Amino acid sequence: MADLNFDLVIIGSGPGGYTGAIRAAQLGLKTAVIEKDKTLGGTCLNVGCIPSKALLESSEHYVQAQHEFADHGIKLSKIELDLQQMLGRKDKIVKSLTDGIQFLFNKNKITSFVGLGSMLSATEVEVKSASGETQVLKTKYVMLATGSVPIELPFAKFDGKRIISSTEALSLKEVPKTMIVIGGGVIGLELGSVWQRLGSKVTVIEATSKVCGPMDAQLTKQLQRILVKQGMEFLLDTKVQSVDIVASQVKVKFESADKKAGEISGDICLVAVGRKAFSNGLNLEKAGVEKDERGRIKINAHLQTNIKNIYAIGDVVSGPMLAHKAEEEGVAVAETLAGKAGHVNYETVPGVVYTWPELASVGKTEEELKAAGIDYRAGSFPFSANGRAKALGTTDGLVKVLADAKSDRILGVHILGPRASDMIAEAVVAMEFGGSSEDLARSFHAHPTLSEVMREAALAVDKRARQM
Ligand code: NAI
Repeated sequence: MADLNFDLVIIGSGPGGYTGAIRAAQLGLKTAVIEKDKTLGGTCLNVGCIPSKALLESSEHYVQAQHEFADHGIKLSKIELDLQQMLGRKDKIVKSLTDGIQFLFNKNKITSFVGLGSMLSATEVEVKSASGETQVLKTKYVMLATGSVPIELPFAKFDGKRIISSTEALSLKEVPKTMIVIGGGVIGLELGSVWQRLGSKVTVIEATSKVCGPMDAQLTKQLQRILVKQGMEFLLDTKVQSVDIVASQVKVKFESADKKAGEISGDICLVAVGRKAFSNGLNLEKAGVEKDERGRIKINAHLQTNIKNIYAIGDVVSGPMLAHKAEEEGVAVAETLAGKAGHVNYETVPGVVYTWPELASVGKTEEELKAAGIDYRAGSFPFSANGRAKALGTTDGLVKVLADAKSDRILGVHILGPRASDMIAEAVVAMEFGGSSEDLARSFHAHPTLSEVMREAALAVDKRARQM
């Protein structure tokens, strides 16, 4: 019979769980991972980051073929959408990555169990398979990494067909003529973009006065204007009051900030109003683990719950719900358990919205610095003055660098532009090393590259930007 005694049992195989497992195994801990779904990888790989990026890439190519290739002197006689092929390509990418995790588990001698993991005590975890068989794992430590699920509005219950979450929005069998998106956050704008590019008339209803929540106000406004030019409609400061299915349509009634009532109908309503921590079925009470008022598992600065051998990471605890934040937390816990100084620097967690152009940010926004009374200098530079951006044909957007007025230490970097998702990495590294705007400005940036816009924005902090 298999040995069911472990040093570490991880519940959940998303980016936090699987990355933590690999680091723990590398450090010599006998590690098991329990996953309730058939494939490894959690939301990110199966129904989140990866499939959405595959569809964003494909739909962007579709737009380019229709509207931009001609400018490059490339004439296409017939452009046709093959949605099944597009979805199939996405599924293949997901499969190769989820299979890849199993490969990494085997390579690192991590034991994986398929079934629902739940606590029997602080040191015993039950795995219950879909067919009802149970196994009990004994362990010194537990890492809870069970992630999050979409929030459901009480008056708009998901039916998976007309009223859908991000999961179903990744696999629609046909392009809806009209799509109503509730929530102008990351998911609303990314998946709204996918279907808008493929031909849907997309209307985004957002309760607050701006899209993308707390991200830089100047850049999010600019992004919204660009999305409007692409064909997306926005109803800001608008509260949804009811969502009903009438015949084959979804009817959404709403009220604007000035109390005007209105309604629109669409083929599909995507509800993207946030996600909530998922800890259903974990039986945390059997181990004595406490949750906060929002259902998130309570942790201290070392990601340790109130029960000292049980840790929790990722979307199921407080903080931004981002795969890379969960990964760092998983690694930090593994390193702490192995006697190292596991640590996460929450000051440098980047956030990215994969629209076109992309929006990426790290550190503080101008709004946050003003509210905190911190004296700062700002430098910004537009992509329209960058040679590489011109050659690429994508000149919308800018880079903004915010630095402490006295020390010049970088406090925040915000990018709206092509491949902002990749460009933000330079700012993260600079901030991790406590770098200044002058450090960025004096570092080589190959010419011609988009990254030169970062250097120009850093030079602009000291009013030394040059035109290219
Ligand atoms: P979100 O928190 O980004 O945005 C939700 C939006 O819905 C907010 O702007 C909020 O004001 C609005 N809202 C809430 N209730 C509303 C209502 N009743 N009517 C109208 N608007 C309403 O949440 P989202 O987009 O659902 O994403 C969930 C999580 O997944 C986020 O934490 C995000 O960080 C993560 N995610 C990250 C991605 C990335 O890193 N690129 C991609 C997708 C998701």
